Amino acid sequence: MQFQWYPGHMTKAKRQMQEDIKLIDLVIELVDARIPLSSRNPDIDELGKNKARLIIMNKSDLSDENQNKEWAAYFKKMGCYVVGLDARTKAGMKTVTNVVMEACKEKIERDRRRGILNRPVRAMVVGIPNVGKSTFINSYAGKACAKTGNKPGVTKGKQWIRLNKNLELLDTPGILWPKFEDQMVGLRLALIGAIKDEILNIDELSLELIKVLTRDYAGILTDRYGVDETQTPVKILEQIAENRKCISKGNELDYSKAAALLIDEFRGGKLGKITLEWPQVQAE
Ligand code: G4P
Repeated sequence: MQFQWYPGHMTKAKRQMQEDIKLIDLVIELVDARIPLSSRNPDIDELGKNKARLIIMNKSDLSDENQNKEWAAYFKKMGCYVVGLDARTKAGMKTVTNVVMEACKEKIERDRRRGILNRPVRAMVVGIPNVGKSTFINSYAGKACAKTGNKPGVTKGKQWIRLNKNLELLDTPGILWPKFEDQMVGLRLALIGAIKDEILNIDELSLELIKVLTRDYAGILTDRYGVDETQTPVKILEQIAENRKCISKGNELDYSKAAALLIDEFRGGKLGKITLEWPQVQAE
């Protein structure tokens, strides 16, 4: 996938979201648990300010469990409900439903006081590309979901997925763009594979990854590749190339092959559960 956002896109997407948000009670925002801030668009705080908010830290299967807890506390402090998830499995979906009900209990109570019973909570899923929105909607809604169709006078052109008697989901997720003009954000998005590799220098990216890992996850590279982490990133990459037999046709060490291997194994979770940005650093 590739980000190709232009000012026109962004204005249109934002306007669409402003309209959609009027129809819902709850914003379900997906972030990537490995980069919980860099995978957000801060506009969502403004857009969803009068709504109940649930942040799903998706791809938690790949992120650092200790950092997941720290980030959950960070988002709760912001006034959001938080759930960590691997959207590819159905395992956490019951928890999501419970938290959705908890997040919307004021609305449910308000309805009850007005004599409105059984009006489902309406929610929409938002997030940057590739964060797992469609995967989540598919897992959550499953086969049992039924499109409720248009409701006259209320949601012309909108399709709702009825998840259960208490909850309806707007079937199209809201796509947000990340703050890709920020270089560090761009780097982290690239590392998790949210920016197309063809437009990246994979060698440089791997050196950045080596820097981050030797700083924050000492021992991880030694364990997997038998490298000496006290060496420079270039030397470490060279050792990875040697130890993994990344050799080019001319019988020389192939740094790019080693770089691609490292990035690939990181993205696939083979290096362990890793989070690339930490909340306490953000707060400083
Ligand atoms: P989007 O609608 O937000 O754009 O994202 P989508 O659901 O298409 O998911 C993007 C990729 O992320 C998919 O991989 C999907 O399987 C994967 N994914 C979604 N949720 C999780 C999760 O919780 N954990 C893990 N490990 N992966 C998840 P894909 O189809 O293989 O695409 P790609 O990885 O080749 O980009």
